[in-house]
Amino acid sequence: MDLDDRYPALSDLAHAAKRRVPRFVWEYLDSATGDEASKHANPQALDQVTLVPRVLSVQTANLTTRLIGRDWSLPFGIAPVGMSGLIWPGAEVALAQAATKANIPYSLSTVAAATPEIVGPHTDGRGWFQLYPPRDPAIRRDMLARAKDSGFNTLILTADVGTPSRRERQRRARLTNPMRLTPNIVAEAALAPAWSLATLRAGVPRLRTFDKYADDDAPGGTTGHIGYRLRTAPDLDYLKALRDEWDGALIVKGILHTEDARTVAPLADAIWVSNHGGRQFEAAPAAATQLPAIRAACPDTPLIADGGVRSGTDILRLIALGADFVMLGRAFHHGLAALGPKGIDHAIHILRKGLIADMGQLAIATPLQVRNRLK
Ligand SMILES: Cc1cc2nc3c(=O)[nH]c(=O)nc-3n(C[C@H](O)[C@H](O)[C@H](O)COP(=O)(O)O)c2cc1C
Repeated sequence: MDLDDRYPALSDLAHAAKRRVPRFVWEYLDSATGDEASKHANPQALDQVTLVPRVLSVQTANLTTRLIGRDWSLPFGIAPVGMSGLIWPGAEVALAQAATKANIPYSLSTVAAATPEIVGPHTDGRGWFQLYPPRDPAIRRDMLARAKDSGFNTLILTADVGTPSRRERQRRARLTNPMRLTPNIVAEAALAPAWSLATLRAGVPRLRTFDKYADDDAPGGTTGHIGYRLRTAPDLDYLKALRDEWDGALIVKGILHTEDARTVAPLADAIWVSNHGGRQFEAAPAAATQLPAIRAACPDTPLIADGGVRSGTDILRLIALGADFVMLGRAFHHGLAALGPKGIDHAIHILRKGLIADMGQLAIATPLQVRNRLK
């Protein structure tokens, strides 16, 4: 049967993924912080956005979208997700390959299970490297050099993790980093044989980019692992130092307040409006809610947005509210966990087809024209 008939929507891939990974892996990927109000706020805010169709003037959709000096084939890309390789072994390389094939951006997290050296060669010089800001400037400079030398040309500073969040659901799932093979973890893994076999072949996932900097065996835990211990809460001076040290494009991720957007705009090539998939602060608004004010405050700054995107329609909704480009985190991992690498391609396909169908309804030729259809 055709994949489109079996998995017509991203939600179908999510359901299939949930059945194929151990429970603790699903809890890691799906969870947010607190009672997850900010995670739920994301799709809820998107559902409020209505776009008015036009008739008698259907256009041919051109999805090519320019962002930071480059033409991408689609107006969306893959957001950084820490420990992707836990969700499915080899995830980082599979995601980078799928993104490169589709000519969309892939963002490699600092706390991925694969290093920039491993992933970079699969990005064709177009990769984005996401930095959790190391406290030690020597480590920072070393990481930047590693990213650059591996072929990453764009740096994302994630600014919304200055302090760790509680992530209660992840704690309840007893997942630690490094992963401890407790009886409960082993029992759950046994119920997911495809994941377990693939993980046995690939090795237990860990934060490999940090191997070089690990200098102790302090206990890890959900938010106490080396990735947290080495990082700092970045301030404006930190951002300026990064701007000086990094000669590629620089994106600042995790902005929700208009004043922060104004402060960052002169130093960044793009601002990424995001509530981190609801994982940092339960009371945070959705990117969708904040976008119009940030767009007005920074009319000339490229804006990227994410959070709760389930379809091409949601991508158009965020663009209508002021985004130039849209990113998804969990959805591509659902595709991979459900179907292997072809599941990432299928997620991209679902979004592309959805965009084309909606742009037909809206009678627009480019995604940006959706701003004229906002009700
Ligand atoms: C399991 C998981 C891990 C994440 N790890 C990171 C990370 O390492 N760095 C980062 O900047 N954002 C991280 N994020 C946030 C994503 O980049 C993105 O902002 C968010 O997932 C978007 O929401 P969506 O999953 O609803 O598409 C993570 C999100 C999830 C779900």
